[in-house]
Amino acid sequence: MKDTRIRDILGMAAEGQEITAEGWVRTVRTSKNLCFVELGDGSCMRSLQCTVDTNDGTLGEPVKALTTGSSARITGTLVPSLGGKQTTELAVSGIELIGWASPDEYPLQKKRHSFEFLREIAHLRPRTNTFGAVTRVRNELSFAVHSFFQERGFLYIHTPIISASDAEGAGQMFQVTTLDIDGLRGSKEPVDYGRDFFGKKASLTVSGQLEAEIYALAFKNVYTFGPTFRAENSNTTRHLAEFWMIEPEMAFCALECDMELATAFIKHLITRVLERCSEDMAFFDQWIEKGIIESLSRVAASEFRHMTYTEAVEHLQSSGTAFEFPPEWGSDLQSEHERYLTETVCGGPVIVTDYPRDIKAFYMKQNDDGKTVRAMDILVPRLGEIIGGSEREADVERLGTRMEELGLERGDYWWYLDLRRYGSVPHSGFGLGFERLIQYVTGMQNIRDVIPFPRAVRDAEF
Ligand code: 4AD
Ligand code: MG
Repeated sequence: MKDTRIRDILGMAAEGQEITAEGWVRTVRTSKNLCFVELGDGSCMRSLQCTVDTNDGTLGEPVKALTTGSSARITGTLVPSLGGKQTTELAVSGIELIGWASPDEYPLQKKRHSFEFLREIAHLRPRTNTFGAVTRVRNELSFAVHSFFQERGFLYIHTPIISASDAEGAGQMFQVTTLDIDGLRGSKEPVDYGRDFFGKKASLTVSGQLEAEIYALAFKNVYTFGPTFRAENSNTTRHLAEFWMIEPEMAFCALECDMELATAFIKHLITRVLERCSEDMAFFDQWIEKGIIESLSRVAASEFRHMTYTEAVEHLQSSGTAFEFPPEWGSDLQSEHERYLTETVCGGPVIVTDYPRDIKAFYMKQNDDGKTVRAMDILVPRLGEIIGGSEREADVERLGTRMEELGLERGDYWWYLDLRRYGSVPHSGFGLGFERLIQYVTGMQNIRDVIPFPRAVRDAEF
């Protein structure tokens, strides 16, 4: 099958060659004797202008059926365009309507629709300019994730979606069960999970980290890239119940090396998108977030600022800003705090390290001060946290004791503790929220608009 995409057609020199293009009609404009049909196929932001002579006996009737949203196969010769907007156009000689779309019913008409409205028609929104651009950028970023790690010799590990351990110890998990929930309702007996499918309580994973650690302690450098699930009841523009996370894990690597890799990773991703999605990025710059190309270029070329959590809290407390949540040592940074640190204090991304141990997960390496852990979060303007990572506790006793303090059963994590018993080594890793990255790079404000099918509180229609 010869598949000619509109992106390729628009890149050709117009020499009167015969071309057939397939796609969906975006707009139709009629003047006296001519009709201009814009045909798009998702391969790029631009569409192909197809010029139809309405006096032509064989075209006059078929062109009338080409309504916005219809699919068609259009043949013609590629000629230089006289119009200002495009350099080439198709002088049409044949029109084949494939699937008609009723102009009275097709919801995507010429006007600009709100993102809220488009979320209600998530099956049609990929045909809009914005979602076309988001989809192509998401694709390029996925590829760039793999190229970054593959070029550095990291192995790609598929960690499980169904898991029996709570990797973050935060308890925000979706349970997976084949037990008859309706039948159990009203029973006074505790549920016997021995009778459940896995013989124990199981959930959708919140992170592939613990399993990635197993592989890092055999292959040194590995990464996962897959869906993760959190039953957080936070209805915000930065949270999803199902999101994709990239989690590298490196053995013989302390926190400094973790931060270096994370910085190089973000720069690589930004650079790739600026290079390979320039047309889509120009769209975001014009319509979604003015100046984003320049600010991303600056980030890709500059050092990231570093500060400890304690310094961050001092900055916030001495800022004179009236925060909704007053900053206080020991509490988690709120998104208003993260934005202040990145936008006002640093004017760009910042890596915050050494958080209080009581607000971080059980597996993080404890500092000698008895209060903080070797954690690092990368915060960026507009969004706050996009990366969370740490050096892991590599000492079996310290890890076991910390788990007990937090009420976790050593027996439930026996294999995780074994890693510290047999050939333990300093190791570190981090998790990058893929949708937050896409938001950062495109300027899209709502996380539900950078994933094809958002899953969030009371939201799973498509
Ligand atoms: O900071 P988090 O919870 O870290 C972990 O899960 C570690 N196991 C990672 C590791 O060290 N291997 O999550 C990592 C990132 C966050 O910084 C954020 O970007 C994203 O995942 N994230 C979410 N993105 C969308 N919706 C949510 N509900 C998210 N929760 C976390
Ligand atoms: Mg975090």
